[in-house]
Parts: sequence; C-alpha cells; structure tokens
Amino acid sequence: MKQSEFKKRRAALMKQIGKGNIAIIASAGAAVRNRDVHYPFRQDSDFYYLTGFNEADAMAVFIPGREKGEYVLFCREFDEKKALWEGAHAGLEGATKHYEADDAFPIDDLDEILPGMLENKAKVFYPMGRDSDLDFKLMEWIKNIRKHSRNGVSAPGELVSLEHIVHEMRLFKSAEELKLMRRAAQVSAAAHVRAMQYCQPGLYEYQVEAELVNHFMQDGLRAVAYPSIVAGGKNACVLHYTENTDKLRKGDLLLIDAGVECDHYAADITRTFPVSGKFSEPQRLLYQLVLDAQSAALEQIAPGIAWNKAHEASVEVLTKGLIELGLLKGKLKKLIKDEKYKQFYMHRIGHWLGMDVHDVGDYKIKEEWRLLEPGMVLTVEPGLYVPADCETVDKQWRGIGIRIEDDVLVTKDGYEILTHAVPKTVADIEAIMRGE
Ligand code: GLY
Ligand code: MN
Ligand code: MN
Repeated sequence: MKQSEFKKRRAALMKQIGKGNIAIIASAGAAVRNRDVHYPFRQDSDFYYLTGFNEADAMAVFIPGREKGEYVLFCREFDEKKALWEGAHAGLEGATKHYEADDAFPIDDLDEILPGMLENKAKVFYPMGRDSDLDFKLMEWIKNIRKHSRNGVSAPGELVSLEHIVHEMRLFKSAEELKLMRRAAQVSAAAHVRAMQYCQPGLYEYQVEAELVNHFMQDGLRAVAYPSIVAGGKNACVLHYTENTDKLRKGDLLLIDAGVECDHYAADITRTFPVSGKFSEPQRLLYQLVLDAQSAALEQIAPGIAWNKAHEASVEVLTKGLIELGLLKGKLKKLIKDEKYKQFYMHRIGHWLGMDVHDVGDYKIKEEWRLLEPGMVLTVEPGLYVPADCETVDKQWRGIGIRIEDDVLVTKDGYEILTHAVPKTVADIEAIMRGE
C-alpha cells in the first residue's frame, strides 16, 4: 500500500476529529507463545489502516492543527543490538522519513510527553475499553492534568470512541484496497482449486491444509487470514473446527474454509466437495440446496438493498428445500417464523470482509438493517449442517456439513464475486476432481 493512501486516511480522520481535540491509538503488542517464542506479529488493523506502521510498542497520536505537526508517532528507538537479534525496525528517523510522521518520540517517553499533548484539548478520541493498559494510562494522565488546573491548564472533558469513525471509513474499500483484496481472493481461490486436485481418501486433514498453505506461500502471500478449517465428514458440522487431525474417508465430504491475507486484507472462501471426487445422492441434494440458497442470496446484493435481505432469501430457499427433502415437516411460513431451520443453518448469511476477516462496520443504523452501498465487501456463505446424532432426520442425511462461501464486492449496478475462480457447481467440482 502506498504511503499516500495512509496519508489520505489520516487527513480524513483529522477532519472528523476537529481542531481542539486529539486522537490516540496503540499498536498491537507482541504476544508470547511460550518463553522466548512469540506468535507471528499481526498489527492492529485500525492502527495499520491509519499508519502503515508494522511494529509493536508504538502509539499514534493525531492532533489537528498542531503547529509542530499533526501526526505524532511514538515508537521504539533504533537499537543496533535489537536489530541484530530481532531484525529491522524503523526508529525515530524511520518513523518520520518512511512513515511520514510529522514528529516522532521514543515510546519509553510516552508518560512524559503525551500528557502535555492532552492539555487544553476538549475531546479525546480513542478505542475505549479495547486495551486496558491504555484505558488506565489515559485516566492517570487526565488526573495529573487536573492537578494543574490552577495554572490555567484544562483537562479533556469528553472521551469519544475512535472506532466508530475509523470503522465507517474501513467499511468502504478504495481502489487501492480492492487491489489487495482481489489478490488475496485470487491466491486463495487457486489454493482451493489445488486442494480439490490434491484431495484423496486416506490423507489427513492437515495434509490438505499443508497443500493450501504451500500454495499461499508459493504464490507470494505469507499469512493466513484465519486458521484454515479442513473438516472431513461430520467434522464439518463443527463450525469453527480447526484441529484438522482426522483421516479423510472415501464416502465423506470435505469442507474447506480457508483464505490468505494480502498486506493485511483478507480473503474468506469455503468450498465443500466429495473426498473421492463424486457426490453421493443425499450429498448432492443437500449441496445443490445450499448452492441455490447462495444464488438467491446473491440476487439481493445491490446498492439500496438492506443487508438482511440476502439472509432472508437464504433462509427461505433452505427451509423450502428442507421440507421437500423431508428434513423439516410443516408449513414454510410457520417453520421460518419459528426459526426451525436454525437446527441446520445456525449462522447468518455472512459478514463484512476487509482487514479483519469478520470486518468492522455497523450492520444496523438506528436499529434498521443497513442498506448496501458500492465499495462494501461482504461474504455470502449459506450452509447446512446435519449433526451425526440428529435422530429427527433419516440416516442418509446425518453427519453432512456443507458451506459455500464467496467474497462479494457491492458495485454501482449490483455485485462482483471476487472469488469466482473456484468452481462450485456439482458438475464443475466433479470434473476438476477427475483431473479435467
Ligand atoms: N472463516 C470464518 C467465516 O467464514 O466466517
Ligand atoms: Mn466468512
Ligand atoms: Mn469462512
């Protein structure tokens, strides 16, 4: 992502904060896995969105109208020894030179410098309640400023959530962001195709996971957007199954929910296909039903249509199909009203997608479902999950879990599927698995 994009975002944020106020946001911390080993570092999405700065132990401060510079970055000072052991870090010089901070200070001096910046500001925008360390520090700084009120210094009187502003910005993807999302989608799609070609009975789920990750990395992207779900047979009925430790069996389906990140932007794809390459009749019938539900949901993706319509369309198609196949008994309207479909379809149609796989942005505005607008990206992912011990349905349906998930951009005229490159019709899946 170009620095100019981050600069544009900061300018938009400054405008919303307004002169006389201040905004503060902390980077992610480095998370310890065990003793001297850390989890791979992933920057806080809001922090990265505004700064492009990919280090822990940093704090960004935005002060519209500040004479010595509106954008201040606190970060680690450059340390040769640290560079030798842990690798490159920007230091104060890098913060101003490469990340275009107007001013940079050592993070170790935060307690001395930041309170002065808070003096005489009316509002503090910050991610309230997200980082208890910052919550605590801010209160301490404000208390200390109050002590000096006799000198004519005033402490901020209002705390405002920074998230709401930033998340509204993040909900609408720019052309630069869409380039990254398209790449994440393309690489993830190719990995899914490869998994279909690679899959065969007798492999362990984690071997298929390895094939996916191998493709992500060989194709140039390093980090998964979330832990891959590779769920054979009834494991697919556990929605966030990530153990991936079982052996794949001939007559089972395999559900793969996996996506990679491209410069902090996620893809999120699910496909379900037969381990042996051919759907059994019950599997095919349920699969086709989920696919029909996805098509019906996609028809509801266009500017001006309420977010919930796609979900309602999927519920209607699935409930109707479940009646026809005999998994539900009763009248369509009543079954929908009583939410009887929830025993087989317990999640919603999807979610916003962006820097976070379950991305930010309100789904309702003043208690009404939000209308879709161009530039929003969301997943459309209906599913059916029949628990293995579900005694209310015929045996042939039990232990089948299916989800079909694509990433969809709302366009001026409707939608564009970013993940169209992975086949999803029964015929196309069976063809690809035959090696055609
Ligand atoms: N991969 C998580 C989800 O589909 O929501
Ligand atoms: Mn999803
Ligand atoms: Mn998913």
